[in-house]
Amino acid sequence: MNKGIFITGTDTGTGKTFVAKGLIKAMREKGLNVCPMKPVETGCRIKNGELIPEDTVKLIKASGVTEPIDLINPYRLNHPLAPSVAAEIEGVKISRKKIFSAYKKLSKKYDLMIVEGAGGIMAPVYKKYLFLDLAKDLNLPVVIVSRPGLGTINHSLLTIEAARNKGLNVLGVIINYALKTKKGLPEKTVPEVIEKLGGVPLLGVVPYTKKHGNSRPIKIFNRIVSLLQKQIVSV
Ligand SMILES: Nc1ncnc2c1ncn2[C@@H]1O[C@H](COP(=O)(O)OP(=O)(O)O)[C@@H](O)[C@H]1O
Ligand SMILES: [Mg+2]
Repeated sequence: MNKGIFITGTDTGTGKTFVAKGLIKAMREKGLNVCPMKPVETGCRIKNGELIPEDTVKLIKASGVTEPIDLINPYRLNHPLAPSVAAEIEGVKISRKKIFSAYKKLSKKYDLMIVEGAGGIMAPVYKKYLFLDLAKDLNLPVVIVSRPGLGTINHSLLTIEAARNKGLNVLGVIINYALKTKKGLPEKTVPEVIEKLGGVPLLGVVPYTKKHGNSRPIKIFNRIVSLLQKQIVSV
């Protein structure tokens, strides 16, 4: 089980889904048959009595796959909380087996899996089982999506350290402008510091993009995919 990439972030809202979508589109343009997975999605709103997993829907749309949604997103929960906490409140028992079996079924059919976590790498999936445990058990290397400004050196290095401690292969960091931010001194200086102190490649800096499909991020995502292709044999 190692045909894929686990997309994590230094926090929730750093742009994991946005980056995953960009990577999926760039990979598809390169002719790769790529399938997304969002093992657990929380904060799903209820429409006509059904939970709507917005990240999952976005990832499916970007990839164009027609797989059953229950394979791509085995668990969806209503509360905007860490999966283990939301599951407990909602009386849902999250089983690793169900996630693995869905991953196995999908990964057999595709060149590459793009798996998005929820929150950061130490967010709990269930009980004491964290997303870094899931990435490890799925044998997936990790890409970290970080914020651009002050505080991100600490958060990025902590994430890299936690991943390495677990024996995960960190493919690199992507700095993503999820908010419209002016480039001040922190934004200008942090990429180099994260790369040097973290000992990982800075894969790219994704600008704030109002309208998806704008040509600049497409170029950046293409470049990131090329860098990833050098690192992962199966990409
Ligand atoms: N580079 C970007 N440009 C513009 N908006 C972005 C960018 N990255 C993320 N966003 C927006 O920021 C919000 C959080 O991003 P999202 O990908 O959902 O984060 P996460 O998956 O890490 O929780 C979303 O509304 C998303 O569309
Ligand atoms: Mg997301």
